[in-house]
Amino acid sequence: MENKLYSKVLLVLVTIFLSTSYTNQLQLQSSQTHTLLRIKRLLNFPSILSTWNSNTDFCNTDSKASLTVVCYEETITQLHIVGETATTKLLPKNFSIDSFFATLSRIPSLKVLTLVSLGLWGPIPGKIASLSSLEIVNMSSNFLYGTIPQELPLLSNLQALDLDHNMFDGHLPDWLDSFPLLTVLNLKQNLFNGSLPDSLSSLTNMRVLSLSGNRFNGSVPDLSRLVNLQVLELDDNGFGPNFPRICNKLVTCVLRNNKFRSSLPDNMSSYYQLERFDISDNAFVGPIQLELFSLPSITYLNISRNKLSGMLFENLSCNSVLEEVDLSSNLLSGKLPKCLVSNFNDRSFLYGGNCFEETNQNQNQHEQSFCHTEAIAVGIVPNERKKHKRVSKTVLSFGIVGGIFGGFALVALVFSIIRRRKGKSMMMMMKNSQTKLISENAASGYTSKLITDAGYVSKTMNFGSVGLPPYRAFSLEEIMAATNNFDTTSFMGGEGSQGQMNRGQLKEGSLVAIRSVKLTKSYKTKDFMQHIEMISKFRHHHLVSVLGHCFEYYLDDANVRRIFIVFEYVPNGSLKSWISDRHYRKSLTWTQRIAAATGVAKGIQFLHTEIVPGVYSNNLKITDVLLDQNFVAKISSYNMPLLSKSPSFNKSVKSEDKSDIYDFGVMLMELILGRTIKSRNVETLKDLLQASIISDDEARRSIIDSSIRNACLDESLKTMMEICVRCLVKEMEDRPSIEDVLWNLQFASQVQDAWRGDSLSSDSSPLSPLPSRRMNFH
Ligand SMILES: *[C@@H]1O[C@H](CO)[C@@H](O)[C@H](O)[C@H]1NC(C)=O
Ligand SMILES: *[C@@H]1O[C@H](CO)[C@@H](O)[C@H](O)[C@H]1NC(C)=O
Ligand SMILES: *[C@@H]1O[C@H](CO)[C@@H](O)[C@H](O)[C@H]1NC(C)=O
Ligand SMILES: *[C@@H]1O[C@H](CO)[C@@H](O)[C@H](O)[C@H]1NC(C)=O
Ligand SMILES: *[C@@H]1O[C@H](CO)[C@@H](O)[C@H](O)[C@H]1NC(C)=O
Ligand SMILES: *[C@@H]1O[C@H](CO)[C@@H](O)[C@H](O)[C@H]1NC(C)=O
Ligand SMILES: *[C@@H]1O[C@H](CO)[C@@H](O)[C@H](O)[C@H]1NC(C)=O
Repeated sequence: MENKLYSKVLLVLVTIFLSTSYTNQLQLQSSQTHTLLRIKRLLNFPSILSTWNSNTDFCNTDSKASLTVVCYEETITQLHIVGETATTKLLPKNFSIDSFFATLSRIPSLKVLTLVSLGLWGPIPGKIASLSSLEIVNMSSNFLYGTIPQELPLLSNLQALDLDHNMFDGHLPDWLDSFPLLTVLNLKQNLFNGSLPDSLSSLTNMRVLSLSGNRFNGSVPDLSRLVNLQVLELDDNGFGPNFPRICNKLVTCVLRNNKFRSSLPDNMSSYYQLERFDISDNAFVGPIQLELFSLPSITYLNISRNKLSGMLFENLSCNSVLEEVDLSSNLLSGKLPKCLVSNFNDRSFLYGGNCFEETNQNQNQHEQSFCHTEAIAVGIVPNERKKHKRVSKTVLSFGIVGGIFGGFALVALVFSIIRRRKGKSMMMMMKNSQTKLISENAASGYTSKLITDAGYVSKTMNFGSVGLPPYRAFSLEEIMAATNNFDTTSFMGGEGSQGQMNRGQLKEGSLVAIRSVKLTKSYKTKDFMQHIEMISKFRHHHLVSVLGHCFEYYLDDANVRRIFIVFEYVPNGSLKSWISDRHYRKSLTWTQRIAAATGVAKGIQFLHTEIVPGVYSNNLKITDVLLDQNFVAKISSYNMPLLSKSPSFNKSVKSEDKSDIYDFGVMLMELILGRTIKSRNVETLKDLLQASIISDDEARRSIIDSSIRNACLDESLKTMMEICVRCLVKEMEDRPSIEDVLWNLQFASQVQDAWRGDSLSSDSSPLSPLPSRRMNFH
């Protein structure tokens, strides 16, 4: 859909040019021929340009989508070169973006410049301003970095600027209004930050505004004057809190994964051209606008993972061309609309995680009370339900009283309502669990035999799990008390085969995280003996360690209904949130990053070598590494039996399996670059790191996370980059062993310490215990 629009816009623009230019039979000025051949050389002879030679009649060759030269009279007006997207590699180290633009500036008549997927790297030089006729600039999918040059406003004819998929950073300049003709601005997938300049509001010709996948935050400027705006893509940023003011001509509106937390505007019905509406993964509150379902053009509607409330009816009307509807994880109640349920046109309809009545088993719903209490908690009371009318009126009148007293009273009222409601549902759950289930008696059965078999318990104690209480079986009562009967406020996340996770507090006060795995087949306790024995070994300083387990049984046949696994609670958020979630936190220092990486590596070493049989293929991710209050990194998700998705568990273990090393390499890259990385980008970024290792100090620093740029010693940085690149090599056997990795991490940490130590005139020379063994890098 967006692509269609982009190409439509492009087509219109190109047609304008073609109508004013014509293919000329005259030969190109020989100076421009030379320039083109020089461009071929500077681009390192890409295969797309293999046909260019000194005899080529550039103005009269057939054009292809990926290679076009258009001339007017004797000069070039358009140059399109699109490399092979799938295999884009960085241009070699001797490529100079300055000489490249110096060469381009010998074609001052250029109006359209497309240089896509060519491996260009470096900052765009100010020289670009000498190409003052430029109207369309497309340099997407390269490795350009730095800020947008100050000289860009000199290109006052600019109509389209596409810098999608590069590594630009810094703020968007507030001179954007220097481009009154701008119709397309695509800055997707870069590292831009800060808030958007207000000057955006005056670009009234804008049709496509695409800023997805950056680090923008703050409110979206008023876009209601952009009457031509058709595509607005702001997803994966930190925008918020209010729904943007936009004109009703929008066709595509993507606000996914931001920090919006207002209600939706109540004039949604005027968005008659809207085809794609995606506001998922925010915290929008308030009533759902039922008009959304029947907008005349709507085909894709995704409001999942918000806090939208309200009731749907069976008789709701919806547009028959709706292809995908995702309402999941909101606070919606009522009945599923007939028009969505009927599987018309293979429509996909997701609605799990709400409070709908009479739904299909596969799309789990919460109790009615969940949506209601949550809706109150976010300050919105669904007014459809008669019996709660009184409450909503009271809240309203307190709201009107306002002021500090009003505020206190409101908070108190909401609390008492929540407490009362919770009390009720708790009682019901207790009754349920007592009639249906019997709890495990911790002092009998197989498990207690296992536990008292001190052999492995004392062994696990030696594994560095200092400070942890001994492994034990928990009783169901303990689990219920710890989680307040799985009260919704204890819910931490997770669903499906991995089971849901709840926070809890044990009687003696320690916090725990409890995973519950619901079993779908019939099993007896003895079927799990081997698993439990294995599970009890996952205890280490750098793992989120297991404290114990608990079985819950069906009363009728004593089959196991659920297994609870009790973990230590790690309070300080994920490693990811400490490097990339800058909206809330200060990010980790370089030293802390090396320490975190070392912790993860030690955790991996434990899993591979100290548990028997070794635990491999842990599918490690930066989101699954948690930090405790002392910033000790702990792996929270490993290939544990029961929870394991990997079928290789308990089969013959391949000790040469180095997929964890690769995953670790990705994590190192994320720590160095300061952002999460999609798997499809790992290969190109690896090449970038590789190139920067052999480049100079300044070039190395320019690509790394800006918040550590001036705080890491080059030798330390280089070592980390080298480890990272080595971990990511394709051939499994060429990746370093975890021991090698640890040695080098230690080296990186010690040179860094030594450097910092300089200024502290430290007496204990920190350089002396440097490990002597280093990896051999070419
Ligand atoms: C870069 O170096 C390669 C050989 O390593 C050479 O073939 C190429 O011409 C050089 N490119 C430039 C722009 O100097
Ligand atoms: C830039 O080039 C890419 C690849 O050819 C294309 O998909 C995109 O639509 C172009 N952008 C603009 C604004 O023309
Ligand atoms: C934005 O990025 C630039 C360059 O990466 C950095 O210097 C600046 O501190 C960042 N600003 C914010 C507010 O994060
Ligand atoms: C945007 O993020 C920066 C850096 O984290 C922060 O200083 C600033 O206050 C944020 N701005 C808004 C409007 O949230
Ligand atoms: C919808 O209402 C908001 C204010 O509530 C206003 O800013 C916006 O322009 C309106 N949009 C349309 C299309 O009427
Ligand atoms: C809706 O959005 C969520 C979160 O962004 C995403 O996971 C889900 O796949 C989307 N649903 C559909 C049907 O595209
Ligand atoms: C749809 O049903 C609801 C309640 O079931 C009723 O209040 C409403 O009037 C109905 N709407 C239409 C258009 O029939």
